[in-house]
Amino acid sequence: MRPSWDPITVKRMDLISISARASTPWATIVGDSTRKEDTPGEVVPLLAHDVRAMAAAVLRGNDNGGYTVPSRATYPHQWNWDSALAALGWAELDSARAWTELETLAGARDRQGMIPHIAFHTRVPDRVNGRLRGMLTTVAAPYARYLPGPRWWGKRFSVDGRRISGITQPPLAATCMRLLFEAHADEERVRALLRPLLCWHRFLLEERDPRGTGEPVLIHPWESGRDNAVEWDTPLWRVMPEVTVVHRRDTHSVDAAERPSDEHYRRYLTLVRRGTEIGWRQTRLARTGAFRVLDPGFSGILARACHDLAWLAEQLGEPQIAAESDRGCERVAAALRARADSDGLIRPVDLTDESTLEVTSAGSALAALTPGLGDDQLRAVSELVTSGALASPYGVRSLDRDHPERSPRNYWRGPAWTNITWLSAWALERRGELDAAESLRAQMLAAVEGGGMREYFVPDSGRGLGARDFAWTAALTLRELAAGAAARGEAAA
Ligand code: DGY
Repeated sequence: MRPSWDPITVKRMDLISISARASTPWATIVGDSTRKEDTPGEVVPLLAHDVRAMAAAVLRGNDNGGYTVPSRATYPHQWNWDSALAALGWAELDSARAWTELETLAGARDRQGMIPHIAFHTRVPDRVNGRLRGMLTTVAAPYARYLPGPRWWGKRFSVDGRRISGITQPPLAATCMRLLFEAHADEERVRALLRPLLCWHRFLLEERDPRGTGEPVLIHPWESGRDNAVEWDTPLWRVMPEVTVVHRRDTHSVDAAERPSDEHYRRYLTLVRRGTEIGWRQTRLARTGAFRVLDPGFSGILARACHDLAWLAEQLGEPQIAAESDRGCERVAAALRARADSDGLIRPVDLTDESTLEVTSAGSALAALTPGLGDDQLRAVSELVTSGALASPYGVRSLDRDHPERSPRNYWRGPAWTNITWLSAWALERRGELDAAESLRAQMLAAVEGGGMREYFVPDSGRGLGARDFAWTAALTLRELAAGAAARGEAAA
């Protein structure tokens, strides 16, 4: 899109008042101290420029050195899929830092190869590594701002000596690494990451699939990344809560109405306590644990991750890693294809009684990431997110708009999330659904422009909710603004 009126010329972007920006949406920049380099002569939409500066400030502000915290006030450690997405934002600001993000994430893996959902920040300086770090971490005061902190998970350490949780999260890292490699190839750094990611995927495909269904078993709702999604209520309510007193920390920084309920938290923490009691024996938890589900969102992300790791291994002349990853992808994809419902959508399964959880949610949208999904299945997702039950003016809803439990302000029970909208757009684009992808991206940016760099948004009004200064919202905004600018450049050329 080009301006339909003459752009004004400005010397310094940061000197224009907000009201001037709103009434004059296009400008030619002569110099700009809010960016690293001046961009003389570049024509930019002013609003997007503001948003870009805001997103960059959030990512830099959440930088803990080697990793990015999702939000300083609410999530003060390294989270798995948050970090993978943060790398995409760093790719727009500082590609070396983007590689570091993925390396630090891989450094959080445990001895079995699982990359945990959280690697805890401690007061031990980052330059202290390995065993010494492990010893110091044990005696250093645990970081009290987050519940459940390191003590809840037992004495679990990452290979780089940090305290870690005992569960995992959606394996987005390989896909983000491929995107990073496509823009800023660094053979040496990518090569060192191939094996850690292969081992993580192998863990998911083997230890977490004791009955050979083809999909990994999730042993805690947090593993899906969509913590209090309605579909997890039935399996979670089978868990008898053993933790009665909960000193929540999350509700200090975010309104309780926007977070999971205390009843959810009692069960979340009960599952953590039970996992710790049996030393996080993963196959046993996947076989007989109190909470066991299949999630089409997680499985779709894993299938895509295996595919992307195979592609990278191919580029680097690592045929064994490529072949194993291709097999992994096909295994998960085949399992997902085989269990699509008659409307083409794939839904979660409660493994304690093998029942399908009849909920239409973001998990079904994310299944579109699966390579080789049937055309009908793909079309069903495309319709679902553009005009169906998950469509909204501000991105993909986390839950069916007609579901009786829908709550537009509550976490994964209604709001639209930037990562879900972006991943759905990306998945559809890869399958040639370009119009659908473009409209989802526009919705995602509209939410950010109106609601700020928030964790999630009310789907009908775009109001920003949840944690503030949220890293993946900033990262994906940076990526999409850059992609938009590149497309405008191409159109103008
Ligand atoms: C939280 O604490 O809300 C996280 O999403 C769980 O990892």
